[in-house]
Amino acid sequence: MVVDLEAFDRNVARLVEYLRVDGRVSKALRLATKSVRVPALLERVLKSGVPYKGLMCYSAEEARWLASQGFKDLLLAYPTVQESDLRAVRAAVDAGASLRLMVDSKEGIERAAQAMRGAARPLDLAVDVDASLRLLGGLVHLGVRRSPVRSAADVGRLLDAAAKFPREVRLTGAMAYEAQVAGLGDRNPFKKLVNPVAKLIRALSVRHVARLRAEVAEEFRRRSAPLELFNGGGTGSVNYAAHEGCLTELSAGSGLLCSHLFDYYSNVHFEPACFFALQATRASDDGYVTCQGGGYVASGEPGRDRLPVPHLPKGTKLVAMEGTG
Ligand SMILES: Cc1ncc(COP(=O)(O)O)c(C=O)c1O
Repeated sequence: MVVDLEAFDRNVARLVEYLRVDGRVSKALRLATKSVRVPALLERVLKSGVPYKGLMCYSAEEARWLASQGFKDLLLAYPTVQESDLRAVRAAVDAGASLRLMVDSKEGIERAAQAMRGAARPLDLAVDVDASLRLLGGLVHLGVRRSPVRSAADVGRLLDAAAKFPREVRLTGAMAYEAQVAGLGDRNPFKKLVNPVAKLIRALSVRHVARLRAEVAEEFRRRSAPLELFNGGGTGSVNYAAHEGCLTELSAGSGLLCSHLFDYYSNVHFEPACFFALQATRASDDGYVTCQGGGYVASGEPGRDRLPVPHLPKGTKLVAMEGTG
């Protein structure tokens, strides 16, 4: 794997530009480690300074390790009730890490509280709010199936649940990730007929998500509960989420190495910064080679738009019957 650091740095700067509202950078940016899995690159981005701040971590063990390496301000964005994970979280917090855990259920809060029993300070939690778009009474579900927490009232119930364990946990954060905006290109050459629908889903979702997030923030305010962190967005939606006053920060990562998925978006533009040098191991026919391996497939709905694109030699194309991965 080869990273073009100049292209990478340009993407780091571009991402910041999408946060400008009335000329001002509107939010902090939390770097998603699931998308940039190289500690040296994480460090490089964080060193570039404001608005980059903190990491959105993928797993408890990863968060614990990153904390041990000196990374600060960690948000573990994927709920877990696995005992070994909660032990890792506790160990990191006991060692002084600033680590916040995502929860999406009463049971998740209880498990976290159990793991923190007797700790010197409570564990900060954040509630994961499902931001998918549900139409026709839930018959049509657009977006990821992320969390059973779907409304301000649901958030209120979790605030009540957390209030039972004041020594162990503090539910003072929220996150609502609009995957159906961030993960959906509207200029997809492989789905030309779907593009107008994608545009519509985006427009509806941006409004729906903004309203939902405002209601969640209001629920905290109504109860005089501190909302220290409210995270939203992803690379594909930063320019929309930047306008939402209730969000304290946005998460992004994949735009920095830039999968080709973003070639098919009208609202954000990055340049490929991650390359894979592959060995051509076979040449079965004139004009064909088979390569070993092939790079990462972007996450989301599987399809050709998520695949790496051959760069050199110029004119190389993937055959339809085989992909990369
Ligand atoms: C919680 C959360 N926020 C943001 C993102 C977007 O990440 P990226 O900008 O790396 O695409 C994701 C991606 O899955 C996510 O799970």
